[in-house]
Amino acid sequence: MNVLDLVRPDLRGFGGYLSARKQNSGGAIWLNANEAAQPQAFDTLALNRYPEPQPGDLRRAMAEYYGVDDSALLLSRGSDEAIDLLIRALCIPGADRILIQSPTFGMYAVCARLHACTVIDSPLQETATGFGWNIPAMIATAQRERCKVLFLCSPANPTGQSLPAADLELLLDGLAGQCLVVVDEAYGEYSTQNSALALMPRYPHLAVLKTLSKAHALAGARIGGVIADPELIGILKTCQAPYPIAKPSAALALQAFSEKALATTRAGIATCLSERDCLQKRLQVLPMIGQVFSSDANFLLVRCTDADRLGAHLLAHGVVVRAMTQYPALRDCLRISIGTPAENERLLAVLDTFTGATHA
Ligand SMILES: Cc1ncc(COP(=O)(O)O)c(C=O)c1O
Repeated sequence: MNVLDLVRPDLRGFGGYLSARKQNSGGAIWLNANEAAQPQAFDTLALNRYPEPQPGDLRRAMAEYYGVDDSALLLSRGSDEAIDLLIRALCIPGADRILIQSPTFGMYAVCARLHACTVIDSPLQETATGFGWNIPAMIATAQRERCKVLFLCSPANPTGQSLPAADLELLLDGLAGQCLVVVDEAYGEYSTQNSALALMPRYPHLAVLKTLSKAHALAGARIGGVIADPELIGILKTCQAPYPIAKPSAALALQAFSEKALATTRAGIATCLSERDCLQKRLQVLPMIGQVFSSDANFLLVRCTDADRLGAHLLAHGVVVRAMTQYPALRDCLRISIGTPAENERLLAVLDTFTGATHA
């Protein structure tokens, strides 16, 4: 199967915008992009010049980190942009459909809607410990509805669980040649499951989303990426803005791959996981908390006796958590990101004032 068969037919020969940087490289006197000839006095990054469309050093560092060839990686403005590019490249507006599993990250549906594509839902199923995927139902629905792209978030936001690799293989086997399966691993660094990247050599219709916004602590830099068949990456590039990655962001993001920064990232993940497990235990004994779902990510989803009142109480005391009112299955839930140890203590202290209960 050639993954290009899934691309919009009208985009298969499309070259995208031919920017000055793409047209010619090299040379010493750059008179081709209508840039200012001199940088600002405060500028240490030659910001008078447009950036490389895909900064080579960052792309190579990220590809090496994820263990893939750099031709298989497209840098994007967060993984948000990658979601949008995938829908734009594969789905014909007004005609094609994507498949999601609710409750899930909202941007898949938002990008589909902005592109006039229909969103088909094959919902997650709630069990005693959390929300799981119904793989046979997803395959049948994607086939029946002829979905072009399936977005699967693992670890899942907002529900927190990861899809076992064997289930992902079943899904990929069931949809070979029919649908691009996009595994969003925004929270992958926190997970006990292996990355879906291990399956990529066997499945050309698999794409994996990555981001520096979570475990790498660079949400403000807006750097993410999609890893996929290099031919598909070539198409996605033509759908992207001419100079998507700002030089200051690329320079900062590159530092995230130094040995020192990676050690800090690993330590941050370890702290987050131990805080999460501790917080989970302490939350689940509180009277206003009905259930704390197991989590493979850097947040906890909690079912509350009165989520609206509890959320308002926390906010009134300066602690901001995420209401889940937009998801019918989670109306009585709050999603709580794991903070620093001091922030988590503060959360518990404010919860105490809601109930008067004491913590061990
Ligand atoms: C599952 C998931 N995917 C993607 C994103 C977007 O991340 P970014 O655009 O910062 O890479 C988020 C952000 O919260 C997310 O939760």
